[in-house]
Amino acid sequence: MTDRCNLRCVYCMPAEDVHWIPREDLLTLDEILRVVEAGAKVGLSKVRLTGGEPLVHPDILDLVNGISRLEGIEDVSLTTNGMLLERLAPRLAEAGLKRVNVSLDTLQPEKFKKITRFGNLSRVLAGIHAAEQSGMLPVKLNAVIVKGVNDDELIDFAQLTVEHAWHVRFIELMPIGNEGNWGTGFPSHGQRYYSVQEMQARLAPLGILPTSSPVGNGPARSYTIPGALGTIGFISPLGDHFCQSCNRLRLTADGHLRPCLFSRDEVSVREALPSGAGMIDLLQTAVALKPAGHHLELSALTSNSNRIMCQIGG
Ligand code: 5AD
Ligand code: SF4
Repeated sequence: MTDRCNLRCVYCMPAEDVHWIPREDLLTLDEILRVVEAGAKVGLSKVRLTGGEPLVHPDILDLVNGISRLEGIEDVSLTTNGMLLERLAPRLAEAGLKRVNVSLDTLQPEKFKKITRFGNLSRVLAGIHAAEQSGMLPVKLNAVIVKGVNDDELIDFAQLTVEHAWHVRFIELMPIGNEGNWGTGFPSHGQRYYSVQEMQARLAPLGILPTSSPVGNGPARSYTIPGALGTIGFISPLGDHFCQSCNRLRLTADGHLRPCLFSRDEVSVREALPSGAGMIDLLQTAVALKPAGHHLELSALTSNSNRIMCQIGG
């Protein structure tokens, strides 16, 4: 929806000098709807809104409402940093939003501020509870695990699922334009990667067992602590490719379909705007460009992406 964000997580954005997409290049609400509408005609049924931070977008409620009313669309969800969620959750649910994924990398207030540069942990936690109370279930939490930063909190995160019906997803750090120095107190590039295998070994004392995945789950494999209300998932784009089962297309805020998170290939939807004629062809071209697998090498740990994460949406 937008590359703008009200936070500056160290692994996602540089502290300053972010090259924002010019405002006039951003798709309008009607243009986004036109793309989704064409997709729905050829089998698209699930939509996830991402950013940047989708909740800073002034049209967010209208967009959720518009997409959820399109024929064929069964599921609209959103990935957010949670900072504005407490206030917006009831209206988002009313507009037709089914679920939210909330990014949460630490349960420690000071560390939260350090990782996000501007964030406030208690606001995010209030947002998570508000989403739950508004019936957007199950709430999913995304924790990007970085060695030496938050790997010491894996057990704390997993234990949240004992009493809360949340799905906590542990994500490996992906090398997308974030290879530089993150500032004092952060490990250097090459020292930050923490694999899913290491995460699972760290959680072994909890006796986690495989379980079925919650609704809308993409690539995460699910586990549970026996007797817990919630579940745990692991997302391993580097250590364990899931490209074969990936059926996603991303639409960037400036109107490019992106067949793969890690590839530079893009298809502009501009030529099919404003009438929408030819949009289905462009969507099918983008699907055909989906690669058999990505070429990220663990040893290289450098992507060939031309966009940073906030410009792709995760
Ligand atoms: N590696 C892994 N996950 C990332 N995210 C943002 N940047 C990265 C990265 N480099 C996550 C965010 C958010 C989701 C959209 O992607 O934390 O939860
Ligand atoms: Fe914003 Fe999400 Fe990037 Fe953090 S990870 S800076 S919350 S877009």
